[in-house]
Amino acid sequence: MEIIELDPADGALVSGAFEVLCAAHAVDDPESPPPHEGVFVKALAHPAPDEDEVDFVAVDDGAVVGRLSIGLPKRDNLHFAGADLMVHPDHRRRGIGTALLDKFIDYARADKRTELSLTTRMTWEDGPQRSEAGRRFLEKRGFKLALTCVNRRCASDAMSPEAEQALLDKAVAAAGDEYEVISWLGRTPAELVETMCRLDSMILAEVPLGELELEPETIDAELKEAKAVRTEAIGIIPVTTVARHRASGEVVANTVIGVFEDRDFRHGFQWITIVDPDHRGHRLGTLVKVVNLRLLREQFPNVETIWTDNADVNAHMIDINVKMGYETVDASGEFMLRLDA
Ligand SMILES: CC(C)(COP(=O)(O)OP(=O)(O)OC[C@H]1O[C@@H](n2cnc3c(N)ncnc32)[C@H](O)[C@@H]1OP(=O)(O)O)[C@@H](O)C(=O)NCCC(=O)NCCS
Repeated sequence: MEIIELDPADGALVSGAFEVLCAAHAVDDPESPPPHEGVFVKALAHPAPDEDEVDFVAVDDGAVVGRLSIGLPKRDNLHFAGADLMVHPDHRRRGIGTALLDKFIDYARADKRTELSLTTRMTWEDGPQRSEAGRRFLEKRGFKLALTCVNRRCASDAMSPEAEQALLDKAVAAAGDEYEVISWLGRTPAELVETMCRLDSMILAEVPLGELELEPETIDAELKEAKAVRTEAIGIIPVTTVARHRASGEVVANTVIGVFEDRDFRHGFQWITIVDPDHRGHRLGTLVKVVNLRLLREQFPNVETIWTDNADVNAHMIDINVKMGYETVDASGEFMLRLDA
């Protein structure tokens, strides 16, 4: 078995890596949205603009049997290193995972990263059973659970029309006349870029991070544009609704669902929802989410299910999601290892 850096232009290795993803999905979390080959391939060729990304594959007898994808933030959080690691189900318990994990730790150490993170699926309440392998594997190497996020899904028409209208009416009444709701598909309208950067830069300070020590990322117009270019290049369309405070002109609430361009794909992904702390308590979170859900249904009738994950302690967000019909599936445990500086 050898570990090779994955060249995104190497079609055979990229297909092999995608097959590992599919085989692992079928065994580890078959209820989750299936991997999408187009998005996978394009994402390899278009790395995130704020990270140094490197991918490795474990190859045995000419076949890809495992993959490791490392992301090193390059603007903020220079102490941090994150990775995805998985081994083909037919090749587990043979030390391949250990070899890939060693690769990650060596790579991160060489770049002076001191906080390393990996995620694994875990069973949540009475949801489908998830393997303990990931947790045992990571704990054996000294990783500790730092953050638990609960994965929920919701049919795009989960609420009855009456219940949905009632939820919206209540939110509209609570928000009053002070806010204007604006929605769009794709790129942020030019006149909102600056104020959206302000809100995007709050995200890491506002979402619960458990034991992870991450500083807020500073998003400027250039980075925002680069992220939008990448999202477009990999075949994902953001569906966005915001609330703008009329008096100040600032966007103070934002919600985004990521949808694949591929109209045969039936899943959408709830990305961020954030309300400026100075504007909480006016039901703006519910307001933008219900309006965005309606836009999604209208524009992407192929999207039947929306997926979201929230830190288990994020009570307000979970409360809104439950009202909208989200139900728990499983959890993702983010495990962390600290290295000496
Ligand atoms: C977790 C995973 C990467 C392990 O890969 P692997 O190649 O089987 O790992 P190794 O053979 O190197 O196992 C190393 C040690 O981890 C622990 N471990 C691995 N699988 C385990 C299992 N099913 N049950 C209990 N312990 C397990 C054991 O201590 C094992 O050592 P041992 O075989 O000498 O007892 C693999 O199961 C996987 O891809 N799971 C799904 C993806 C995932 O959860 N990734 C996140 C973890 S980074």
